[in-house]
Amino acid sequence: MKASAPGKIILFGEHAVVYSRPALAVPVNQVKVEVDISDSAQPGIWIHAPIIGLQAELTTLPSNHPIASVILWAMQHLGIFPRPNISITIESTIPVASGLGSGAAVSVALVRALSSFFSHPLKNQQINDLVYETEKLYHGTPSGIDNTVITYNMPVFYLKDKPIETFKVGKPFTIVIGDTGIPAPTKESVGDVRRLWLRDPNRFESIFNEVAQISTMARHFIESGRPELLGELMDQNHEFLQELTVSSPELDALVLAARQAGAQGAKLSGGGRGGNMIALVDSASAESVAQALLSAGAKRTIITEIK
Ligand code: PMV
Repeated sequence: MKASAPGKIILFGEHAVVYSRPALAVPVNQVKVEVDISDSAQPGIWIHAPIIGLQAELTTLPSNHPIASVILWAMQHLGIFPRPNISITIESTIPVASGLGSGAAVSVALVRALSSFFSHPLKNQQINDLVYETEKLYHGTPSGIDNTVITYNMPVFYLKDKPIETFKVGKPFTIVIGDTGIPAPTKESVGDVRRLWLRDPNRFESIFNEVAQISTMARHFIESGRPELLGELMDQNHEFLQELTVSSPELDALVLAARQAGAQGAKLSGGGRGGNMIALVDSASAESVAQALLSAGAKRTIITEIK
């Protein structure tokens, strides 16, 4: 039984979203996680995840292991008892710890595959709630944006603890994603921002308010079919992310290279420090911006149409 889940990028509002400001995220279907479950002759629940070099029986993993815990929680939720003898294979083309939501995608695909394999359908809302619990293991204090956009596979205007708001794209637009190739655990950058916020709440609250305005305006431009206005907002959002100390020389170099190659705007995307940046391009210049990113040190690029 197979199930899959896409990657995602945050267009606007990362970090501020942890402090209950809105953020915009979209699925990226060029990359995905696929989970395959089959009956096994060997006793136990065997997990094969070649991307992270994992080949183990569930009970030999620490109880807080993110993959083990999502399987255990999902099985408990689905009322699967006694433990079955199964083999679970996880394949992924989403780079780990890069801002494309690999952890949440693994969890969503796992829950989907388990619910299908045991003929226990779950609603998106249930999958999302379950995966949010496991996201806490990866992130510490996750906003929930990753699991939401990946579960629903739709553009999401996300506000923590509020009902899910998806939004329509008035006119498709093209984004180039550039990967620094530097894995950067989101938990660390989120923890660092928290420490800075605790030290100087007024300053950081006002940055989050500025970012909230950017996200709100961006949603408006996207829905009303004026994506060309997003470039300026991306540049502004990147500056605020620099103030939050979550950019890095490598991210800044890629952002600059994209702008110099003709992108209308660019910013880091996700937790920062490493991982990915995004650039808004017209479809004709997508290839040359992608090429400029590779020359400036990007380990890989993805061109994706947001629609
Ligand atoms: O690094 P990513 O793509 O998983 O995104 C993290 C986004 C943050 O706003 C930094 C954290 C969060 O939980 O929303």
